[in-house]
Amino acid sequence: MKIIKREVEDLVFKSYLEEMLQKKKFLKMNRYLQHGNTTCLLHSIAVAYFSYRLCKLLKINVHEKELIRGALLHDYFLYDWHQKYKPCDGLGKHGFIHPKIALFNARKDFKVNAIEEDIIEKHMFPLTFYPPKYRESVIICLVDKFCSIYEAFNKNAYKMVTKRVVMDKKERRMVGKRINLYN
Ligand SMILES: [Fe+2]
Ligand SMILES: [Fe+2]
Repeated sequence: MKIIKREVEDLVFKSYLEEMLQKKKFLKMNRYLQHGNTTCLLHSIAVAYFSYRLCKLLKINVHEKELIRGALLHDYFLYDWHQKYKPCDGLGKHGFIHPKIALFNARKDFKVNAIEEDIIEKHMFPLTFYPPKYRESVIICLVDKFCSIYEAFNKNAYKMVTKRVVMDKKERRMVGKRINLYN
C-alpha cells in the first residue's frame, strides 16, 4: 500500500516536471554546470524532487505545484558561473546576484506566481539579506543547500532520481548529462 502511495505521489511530480521538460527554454539549464559534474538542470530537478518528498514524508502541507515549479526554476540564471568572465560581472558576485537573474529570466520565459517568485528570489538566504516568506521557499532554501553539498562530493549524483522521475529514455539521457570541467 505504501509503495502504491509513493508511486501515485511520484506521478504528480512527474506531471509537473514533464510540463517543464517540454519547454526548450527550460532545457537550456542542461548546458551549464552547477556543482561537481552536475548540471543546473539535474540540480534543479533533484532540489524539486527531494523538497517534494520531504513534504510528503513529514506531511507538510504545501502548494505542490508552486513548490515543484519554483524549485525547477530557482537556478534559472543561464550562464556558466565557473567562467572567469560572467554575464553577472558588474552586477555583483554570482552567489549574491544569481537569484535575481534567475527571477528575471523566469518572469521573462514563464508565468510565475508570488510563491514561485519568492522561492527563486530567496533561495540563497542567509547569503542574500531577505528571508523566505512562504513555507515552500523555506523548504527549497534548506534542500538546495543539502543538494549542493551532496553534488560537490558525488560524481554520480542523482542517478536513481533521474531513473525514477524521467520516464522517456531520450529525456533521461539529456537530464543525466554530466559536465566535466577539468577533462
Ligand atoms: Fe542558486
Ligand atoms: Fe540551487
